[in-house]
Amino acid sequence: MKNKTIIVSNRLPLQISIENNQDVTVSPSVGGLATGMKSVHQEGDSLWIGWSGLTEEEVNPEIQTQINNAAEKEKCLAINLTEKELDDYYYGFSNRTIWPLFHYFMEYTKFDEEQWKGYKQVNEKFAEKIIENLNDGDTVWVHDYQLLLVPGIIKASKPNVTVGFFLHIPFPSYEVFRTLPWRESLLKGMLGADLLGFHTYDYERHFLSSVSRILRHETQFNEITLKNRIVKVDSFPMGIDYEKFEQAALEHFEKTQDQKSELQVRLDQHLDTQPGSKMILSIDRLDYTKGIANRIQAFEHFLEKYPEFKEKVRLIMLAVPSRSNVPQYQKLKREIDELVGRINGKFSTVSWTPIWYFYRSMPFDNLIDLYTSCDIALLTPRRDGMNLVAKEYIATRTDLSGVLILSEMAGAAHEMNEALIINPNNYDQIADALKQAYEMPLKEQKSRNRIIQRRLKRYGIKKWADEFMKALEGTKVNHISKKAKHVNEKTEQYIVDEFNQASKKILFLDFDGTLVDFNDDPELVAPDPELYNTIDKLNAKNCELVIISGRDKDFLHTHFGDKEVTLIAEHGLWLKEKNGDWGITENVNKNWMSSIRPVFESFVDRTPGTFIEEKNYSLAWHYRKSDPQLGGQRANELSSVVKDLTSNHDLSVLNGNKVIEIKNSGVNKGRAATKQLKEKYDFIFAIGDDWTDEYMFRELPDETFTVKVGLQKTDADYFVDDTEQVKHLLEKFAE
Ligand code: ADP
Ligand code: G6P
Repeated sequence: MKNKTIIVSNRLPLQISIENNQDVTVSPSVGGLATGMKSVHQEGDSLWIGWSGLTEEEVNPEIQTQINNAAEKEKCLAINLTEKELDDYYYGFSNRTIWPLFHYFMEYTKFDEEQWKGYKQVNEKFAEKIIENLNDGDTVWVHDYQLLLVPGIIKASKPNVTVGFFLHIPFPSYEVFRTLPWRESLLKGMLGADLLGFHTYDYERHFLSSVSRILRHETQFNEITLKNRIVKVDSFPMGIDYEKFEQAALEHFEKTQDQKSELQVRLDQHLDTQPGSKMILSIDRLDYTKGIANRIQAFEHFLEKYPEFKEKVRLIMLAVPSRSNVPQYQKLKREIDELVGRINGKFSTVSWTPIWYFYRSMPFDNLIDLYTSCDIALLTPRRDGMNLVAKEYIATRTDLSGVLILSEMAGAAHEMNEALIINPNNYDQIADALKQAYEMPLKEQKSRNRIIQRRLKRYGIKKWADEFMKALEGTKVNHISKKAKHVNEKTEQYIVDEFNQASKKILFLDFDGTLVDFNDDPELVAPDPELYNTIDKLNAKNCELVIISGRDKDFLHTHFGDKEVTLIAEHGLWLKEKNGDWGITENVNKNWMSSIRPVFESFVDRTPGTFIEEKNYSLAWHYRKSDPQLGGQRANELSSVVKDLTSNHDLSVLNGNKVIEIKNSGVNKGRAATKQLKEKYDFIFAIGDDWTDEYMFRELPDETFTVKVGLQKTDADYFVDDTEQVKHLLEKFAE
């Protein structure tokens, strides 16, 4: 069977409704996601899963069959939701919590535990449907804010399935996102994907910052390192089906008088009766993010500031009904009705009404009538993930005429610099832009539009989807090409068999991040009793154990002094052989400390949450508790500052796990471990989690089983997920 892509979104590209309690009718859905992805879906080998638009209560078996048939025709699979699910998940958590919050409307954001439960439940319902229809080798592409938990659910049950996720709305700044009570769960859900796509680099940056601050995952450029996977994050600005709009516009101009729509005839009449007048277009779903009210107010300001344009311009406003069960949308509807009424009342003359307002959905042909007839498009969202209407308007301007006035708060503004870019809250600037647009010479209009059109044509919807899928495909290769092999059940058995067959064996075990998890306070870290138990059992099996750590000797002595193990402290400086005493292994001095310490102190002063640890022969600067971004940045700065200072002494700078440590060169875990191999061993094993352990991985003999804890760049041959897996492996050795 051929592999397919399962596209998943809340809304299907087709809207199903029931008429006369028995007939199913189908119409296209409105909104950027549905209209954009529809072109991708039509061409590819895909199945689209989404909500039918109906509730389970409305559907009987007869109607269900009709729904299934209608959906199947379009390669879709429809999910019905109960009224309660719809209220909690769609009208509730999706559109009263995430939507306003992610668009920076914090005052509209509702935090409601019941709705959150509903959201989780419906995300699970979607995931179940996906899993039911999933074959080996299929790829899943999940869309948008209604389904943030779906990638996580799928990954948990089908770890080998490649999952992509694209967010069609903005991702807000960390400061806004952190206000959500369920922020961890939402991020974890999203991180189930192998690739996460956003419209702009800003949204991507905000997301990465939330992941590193809230979940404290390591993020590097556009990669997030999880325990056993790497998640890629990138920006893919969504395009439109350019040819479809261009072609529709060309066909539109070919129409004879009697082929024209009623709307077009009205538009033509208007232009004929008012020569020299221009029409200004705005099209959006009726949504508070779209800045419809401020657009009308700015238009009012324009007519007041430049009264010479009265009777010369008309604002044609199409608002498509949307989410009308949500109170904020009902309020907005009333507000817009009132504003339009007030302004029309204030300025209208016998032959002129300044605003023509439509509150309804329109067929595609009418949309094209509007795009092609209006000389100016005025789009003023207060926040918008992308705004495809702006792109569609430009694509239909086949003669290159027309001026686009676009809010800088729309994702699309990043790619449409040649438009007149405005701040939607600055009415004066909008008024000036309207004047400029009205008066703009045709030559200038053409030269601006030519540049935008070229860009839109090049990066259309097809290219957008291809780029995303290519990057998603790339995540598979990436995982496979990692040198270190994951220790799964089979590999574990192989290592354990080798261990059991060997007669002389030695294990080198790092401490922090390997035998125990990290803690913000390193002094509070202690091995759990089971670990002591495992150590005793391993001793009984005649296996030598070396605990090799960056910790100072007193710490190791406290926890392991009475065990039958060799202890190596401070990366190899101190050694305590089994049943022996502590002794220094290298000829080192510490005169350098007094000159380096003040530099460390200045970094502590400037970087909250960091501290200095002074060991016998080394100095460490810890930044685990600092702000992750600031900490990382200061760590880079500190390493380069101290590199200059240390070059004259025989010192080296170690970049550990959230720690920078300076110590005498020649002291490292590789050298210290190798010195322990005084006899011939037929099983050597070394395990550790950070850079200091890489010395062991590199310097121990080739036949050593080298194991890294966590998926990171390493010279080790294997990796395990976490300290739990380390403990499990040691217990297997001990059995
Ligand atoms: P959003 O996704 O927030 O609704 P976009 O501007 O990105 O905003 O996308 C809106 C999409 O809906 C566009 O592709 C547009 O063509 C389509 N659309 C808008 N109004 C209508 C309408 N009245 N009838 C049909 N499609 C519409
Ligand atoms: C935006 C969202 C989409 C949504 C569309 C229409 O484009 O990003 O996910 O489908 O608006 O909204 P609706 O709630 O009617 O699906």
